[in-house]
Amino acid sequence: MKALPLGNLTISPPLVLAPMVGVSHSALRTIIQELGGVGLLSTEMLSARRLPSSNPAMDPFLIRSQAEQPLSYQMLVASAADVAPAMAALHRLGADAVDLNLGCPAPTIRRTGGGSKLAEEHDRVRQVVAAARRATTLPLSAKIRLGRELNEEKLRNFCQMLEGEGLDYLTVHGRLHKEPFSRRPRWEWIGKVKEWLTIPVLANGGIFSVADARQCLATSGADGLMIGRAAARSPWLFADINHALYGGPAPALLDRPALYRRFVAILTERFPPGRCLGRLKEFSHYFSSNYPFGHHLAMAVQRSESVAEALAAAEDFFARHDHVGKG
Ligand SMILES: Cc1cc2nc3c(=O)[nH]c(=O)nc-3n(C[C@H](O)[C@H](O)[C@H](O)COP(=O)(O)O)c2cc1C
Repeated sequence: MKALPLGNLTISPPLVLAPMVGVSHSALRTIIQELGGVGLLSTEMLSARRLPSSNPAMDPFLIRSQAEQPLSYQMLVASAADVAPAMAALHRLGADAVDLNLGCPAPTIRRTGGGSKLAEEHDRVRQVVAAARRATTLPLSAKIRLGRELNEEKLRNFCQMLEGEGLDYLTVHGRLHKEPFSRRPRWEWIGKVKEWLTIPVLANGGIFSVADARQCLATSGADGLMIGRAAARSPWLFADINHALYGGPAPALLDRPALYRRFVAILTERFPPGRCLGRLKEFSHYFSSNYPFGHHLAMAVQRSESVAEALAAAEDFFARHDHVGKG
């Protein structure tokens, strides 16, 4: 199995769950870890402003089991002044690594001054990264897109500045700030970043299969992969890639309905009742694309008014459609 040092943390295999709001929570992290093949888990993005006063037992963004590790916490931050108190909170929470969100293009996030907006403001982003580096010895990373437009010189200066300020690794989502997920990711541009830097580079965007993983690594030369939407669609993908590319153990035979039930069980055990249904709908949206008639599953869950109703609808769907095994 391939090991990858990220600062003072070595992950193996070099496969990382992407931070995703509403998706990369304790229940998804747990089933992925149980299926195996993931080297590093991630939280959803967490507001640096709110972190110091958040209660980890109550805040649904912070709920976790200690078994979920190593776990990288992603910070959404707009000002260097917010970094030290937020980092102190992450140390108390037992973070194994810290990631800075420099790529989120959502208008609500840009209005906070964070995400891709922060990445566009050279001095402010430098101050934030420097403050983060001063505040922790944990592995520190940033997650970026390719920029506002394709510009090699700007991108190289930006990435080298990030490395110079002390990042331990960089994750690159191969799209420009305004490019939608429907656009093919530019893995070859991740390859340029990889050539410019000495720290490890993780490639992200558009990896949905073992073949994608192989192709992305070949095109980008990246040191590892970060997987987002496919982690919710096929939580077993990490184990499959680990087996095919890194010689990890052969994945166990998959029972998709049992996996769905396990997800629901963890969700309802860990989250307050009012916080479960939305998360189940979000997960089902991705998971349903494993099935040719999956939109029936997604719609039935979407219409449900309780977790019990959603689970009954899913059982009904599985009874009719899940006789083909893993898709
Ligand atoms: C529902 C959703 C929520 C996301 N939330 C975050 C986030 O909190 N932080 C972040 O850096 N990126 C976020 N992203 C972007 C993903 O981390 C990732 O970069 C993107 O989905 C491309 O990777 P993929 O093709 O493997 O999904 C989100 C994406 C989705 C679909």
